[in-house]
Amino acid sequence: MHQIAILTSDERLVDMLRTSGLRVSGIDQAELARYARVTEAPQVLVVDARGVDQLPSGLPAFRRQHSGAGVVLVVSSLDPRLMLEAMRAGVTECVAEPLAAKALDEAVRRVLTNVLPHQTGQVFAFIGAKGGVGASTLAVNTAAALGRESDNQVLLIDLHTGHGDAALFLGVEPRFSVLDALEKIQRVDESFFSGVVAKALSSVHLLASPTRPRPGAVDSKRVRALLESAGQMYRTTVLDVPRSDLTMIDTLDHATTIVVVTSQEISSLRNAARIAETLRQRYGPARVKVVVNRFHRDAVIAQEDVERVIGSDVKRIPSDYKVAVDALNAGRPLVLDMESRLAKALVAFAKDLAGVAKERAEKPSSVLGRLAWRRA
Ligand SMILES: Nc1ncnc2c1ncn2[C@@H]1O[C@H](COP(=O)(O)OP(=O)(O)OP(=O)(O)O)[C@@H](O)[C@H]1O
Ligand SMILES: [Mg+2]
Repeated sequence: MHQIAILTSDERLVDMLRTSGLRVSGIDQAELARYARVTEAPQVLVVDARGVDQLPSGLPAFRRQHSGAGVVLVVSSLDPRLMLEAMRAGVTECVAEPLAAKALDEAVRRVLTNVLPHQTGQVFAFIGAKGGVGASTLAVNTAAALGRESDNQVLLIDLHTGHGDAALFLGVEPRFSVLDALEKIQRVDESFFSGVVAKALSSVHLLASPTRPRPGAVDSKRVRALLESAGQMYRTTVLDVPRSDLTMIDTLDHATTIVVVTSQEISSLRNAARIAETLRQRYGPARVKVVVNRFHRDAVIAQEDVERVIGSDVKRIPSDYKVAVDALNAGRPLVLDMESRLAKALVAFAKDLAGVAKERAEKPSSVLGRLAWRRA
């Protein structure tokens, strides 16, 4: 089933959305009428109402049958009578001419994430404040812990376009990499992920970093599309995000929570404070968390100092070099053996992350909030 169906005779409108990596199909009135009789439907219906003075007759029946689906209206101008009719028909967003691909894409994505939050998986992103603070350790173990705790597959994506370590932590040598996935993202279908991921653990799929980096910049649109598709196909996705790659940091719109990992070292803390502040401004404070990894109670910089610098409540993960390094060398996430204090702390952290995020995702969205009318 396509995510987005567009009721239009204008192929350019279909192409506009297709280039943004969404699964899109153009439909006609007969297909709209068919949707009203079946249980399966696209998540978003885009109705091209340019040049018409009334909405398609099949729209009310579609809305009755699929009350969870979003409807985006494309109009020539914000004509009050048509707007009133659209509001009564349960239209969620409205985009007026002159049409811009960006505005249309944003309207559809807002509807996808806001109207159907329960159909969107949780995405947890990990960024190290400095090299070697343990971002990959936390990402891999969060994926392994959440995979073991639930019946669902977890997807771990190593967003390093070269020299990422997630595959090493999991003891696998995948055939395909995240770059292969980004290359193919315009042709996403049900089998897309099974063709590119490595089955790293019984409940963890991995999209690894390539063994050999390739020249050329990564297209942020494709990364966004990959993360969005991941959120739709997997209940949980975990990202190992490279700190120095601004393209990747700028594409986390679909992340439920972004975790900045730091140590108790002064330069790492300073970077953590800066990165967290940038992320809070970009994605909102509620979605950004800071974790001190390798925490030592007797370190010169204490928990209170850390919180003063970071400006929020900070979680701690204890230090256990032997357990961490032995697990890495064995290619087996340390949370799979629950004896150590470090493993217990990582599992508790992962559960807390997933639990807190779930509560937020399940909050009902307000009716008024859904009626966002925007001009292109
Ligand atoms: N809580 C911990 N206690 C002790 N050692 C740890 C802990 N967490 C991670 N380590 C160790 O620290 C080292 C660096 O960890 P990791 O590779 O996860 O860091 P990173 O932030 O991803 O580094 P990079 O910047 O290279 O991506 C590894 O040897 C790992 O085993
Ligand atoms: Mg790493």
